[in-house]
Amino acid sequence: MTIQRICCIGAGYVGGPTMAVIADRCPEIEVTVVDINQARIDAWNDADLSRLPVYEPGLDAVVGRARGRNLTFSTAVEATVASADMVFISVNTPTKTKGLGAGQASDLRWVEACARTVAKAATGHTIVVEKSTLPVRTAAAIKTILEAAQEDDQQRCFSVLSNPEFLAEGTAIRDLEAPDRVLIGGEDAASIEALAAVYSHWVDEAKILRTNLWSSELSKLTANAFLAQRISSINSVAALCEATGADVREVARAIGTDSRIGPKFLNAGPGFGGSCFQKDILNLVYLCRHFGLPEVADYWESVVALNTWQQHRIAQLVVQKLFGTVTGKRLAIFGFAFKADTNDTREAPAIRICGDLLEEGAQLAIHDPKVEPAQMARDLKQEAAAAADVLSGTGSWALAESVEEAVSGADAVLILTEWNVYRNLNWAELAGRMRKPAWLFDARAVADPAVVRAAGLTLWRVGDGED
Ligand code: NAD
Ligand code: UDX
Repeated sequence: MTIQRICCIGAGYVGGPTMAVIADRCPEIEVTVVDINQARIDAWNDADLSRLPVYEPGLDAVVGRARGRNLTFSTAVEATVASADMVFISVNTPTKTKGLGAGQASDLRWVEACARTVAKAATGHTIVVEKSTLPVRTAAAIKTILEAAQEDDQQRCFSVLSNPEFLAEGTAIRDLEAPDRVLIGGEDAASIEALAAVYSHWVDEAKILRTNLWSSELSKLTANAFLAQRISSINSVAALCEATGADVREVARAIGTDSRIGPKFLNAGPGFGGSCFQKDILNLVYLCRHFGLPEVADYWESVVALNTWQQHRIAQLVVQKLFGTVTGKRLAIFGFAFKADTNDTREAPAIRICGDLLEEGAQLAIHDPKVEPAQMARDLKQEAAAAADVLSGTGSWALAESVEEAVSGADAVLILTEWNVYRNLNWAELAGRMRKPAWLFDARAVADPAVVRAAGLTLWRVGDGED
């Protein structure tokens, strides 16, 4: 079985870059990415490659090579499904906000809608691939919907595979082009091999793992839970370092050189953000409770609780160090994205930390190299202020176009995202624009402490007990 036409439903952070790389590496396969969001499809088709809807280093070059050749972006969902022999489902699976499992379970309405679209429109033999991150056993529901369609029309048949995506934002193209592994779960060997053959265009055979459906679905949730757990673990140690005179970077190096632990994902910070970690752990917690494993659920839930605590802790210590009040004080926020090299703010630590400081009446001047002010307004649930209303005691925020503008008249700077531009700032010059005594709260530990102190700033660094 050779795949000739791929359809991907969902032109988001995952669908767009993943299909662009498949099209780039497999010129003989027609790849079409479809979405119900016309504006998103228009942006993917923008002649100006700097205006793609997802910002990822290297993505413009990949799209530039494949688009118009064998990569198409379209809103013609049913027609594209009808002509495809493989359909990826790469739609959003956010946490449910109401009803059964609200706050924890995944909202599967968009996945089910895709399954029904495939059931209605597909022709001949169609391999349906779960690319979205899904609760274990979702494939059973998709299969049930597809089997009902098959009974209506014997000309059609389906097989379902799980092929979760492990890319991280900001490094999506690198992760897709040189993945640690590709995971394919399924029951039908021929379909598994058809998908493996797509990846084998550029991925070593040894890195293509084949499992059963449920192991594949569960591995995705587990991988994210393990990664997030490391961050909560190091952040818990950071707080202890601050209390005891230890330095979390020294501790991380000391433990990370143990080959059983390894050095990666041990950077203490303002807590993890992003669209995946919290959502996927809460989903895991929900599943554990559903399967009668409350102790396992509590164990994983504590990873999220520690993360939330770390974010509130940082906002609280800023208030405490600034003489117990930030009402009417100008604070410069450096970085709003959940990590560097992305314009994504989903679950960004900056949202909770800025929210707490606004609640305390602070006037925030927010700088980020990529995040749009309209996104900040949505996340902070308030419009940018035309001018700071210092006397009212109500917090407000404004966009700063430059770091210099952000710090002017500020009592403190908070670094919340590790953008490269914040690593080697001229702190002497910036300090000269601030109100004294001035502080730097470096939640990402990116600034050079010696330079910051020489500039006359008082420094707090995450996990640094020396300060
Ligand atoms: P996204 O919100 O960026 O994109 C999803 C897209 O699907 C949207 O454009 C939406 O309009 C479209 N869509 C929804 N229902 C549709 C339908 N019925 N027909 C056509 N289009 C439809 O989401 P994302 O970040 O790309 O994530 C997709 C999945 O991948 C999620 O399950 C997520 O957990 C998982 N994932 C995300 C990442 C990441 O870094 N963002 C990494 C790995 C896995
Ligand atoms: C994550 C997983 O890494 C990826 O495999 C999965 O497919 C999607 O979820 P992503 O959320 O894009 O990817 O970014 P990641 O690099 O994992 O960072 C997540 C959060 O953890 C960020 O807020 C980041 O700043 C934070 N982080 C990461 C730390 O605080 N310390 C670290 O050592 C690593």
